[in-house]
Formats: sequence, C-alpha cells, structure tokens
Amino acid sequence: MKRIVVVAAVLAVSAGAVTAQQDQVKTTQAMMKDNGKNAGALVAMVKGEKPYDQSTVNAAMAQFEETAKKLPTLFPESIKGLKFEGDYSPSSKIWEDKAGFESHIASFAKVVADAKSRIKDLDALKTELTVVGKQCGGCHETYRIKKG
Ligand code: HEC
Repeated sequence: MKRIVVVAAVLAVSAGAVTAQQDQVKTTQAMMKDNGKNAGALVAMVKGEKPYDQSTVNAAMAQFEETAKKLPTLFPESIKGLKFEGDYSPSSKIWEDKAGFESHIASFAKVVADAKSRIKDLDALKTELTVVGKQCGGCHETYRIKKG
C-alpha cells in the first residue's frame, strides 16, 4: 500500500513537470508568433499596403525588446527534445552551442534598441526593418528547424 502511494506521488510530480514544460513551449511559440505578426504589420507598411503608423511601430518594437529580454529564458534545458506543435521546432544547437545562441540574442537586442530609437518615418522603417529582419533570420537559420 505504502509503495503504491509513493509511486502515485512520483507520477504526480513528473506529470506536473511535463505540464510546466509544455506551458513553457506554448509561451515560447506564442511569443514568436507575436513577433511574426508584428513583423508582418511592419512589412505591410513598407510595401505600402498600410499607411505608416507610429503606434504600430512602437508596439512592434516594444514586443521585440520584450522578446530579446525573455529569449535567454525561453529554451531551458528541461524543454530540450520536447515536441513543439506547428511547423517549427527549436534546433538542438540551442543547447549544444549555448554561447553562439546567447551572442545571437545579444546582437538581436542591440539591433532592436538601435532601430527603436531611429524609426520615426517610413524611410527609416524601410532601412531598419531590413536590419532587424536579418537578425530574426540569422537566428532562425541556425537555431530553428522547419518541420516536414
Ligand atoms: C535568438 C534567436 C531568435 C531570434 C532573434 C528570433 N527568433 Fe523566431 N524563433 C526562434 C526559434 C528557436 C524558433 C522555433 C521555436 C518556436 O517555434 O517557438 C522561432 C520561431 C519563430 C516563429 C514560428 C512560431 C511558430 O511556432 O509557429 C516565428 C513566426 C518567428 N520565430 C518570428 C520571429 C521574428 C519576426 C523575429 C525577429 C523580430 C524572431 N523570430 C527572432 C529563434 C529566434
């Protein structure tokens, strides 16, 4: 009887841990999806599909900054190898080359901070979005895997 209780307790604890990891995965994906949405809104302005709107720019930059701040915590060791829903997964290189990943985050943070202070009109947006986009793409190229 005692043994059953212990086993049940162990199972409960590991189930809790799995849930926490899945939540972490969901948070990470939601954050990246928001980045995608914000980047899309900026691209629409650059293409002339939407009029230039400073508040949309500010909201996007604020969210990129938030992402840069959170990125170091988004891929803890505990989620390594965990299944990500959807089309993308983190590459195992995130954990194998931690220093490289962290230097990518640092460079993304710097570029976003610079861009944020510079984007005041459409011309600046065109220039800066290319620079920021290269940072997103640079990290994805090495550290993100497109499934299937
Ligand atoms: C330092 C690395 C890094 C940077 C910088 C970065 N990303 Fe990501 N991104 C990832 C990783 C790893 C994944 C795969 C895990 C995931 O999907 O959440 C990802 C996934 C995504 C996804 C797919 C989300 C999904 O699961 O459907 C989008 C969209 C995205 N990123 C947009 C962006 C945009 C836009 C930027 C720049 C503003 C950016 N990312 C900057 C690492 C990064």
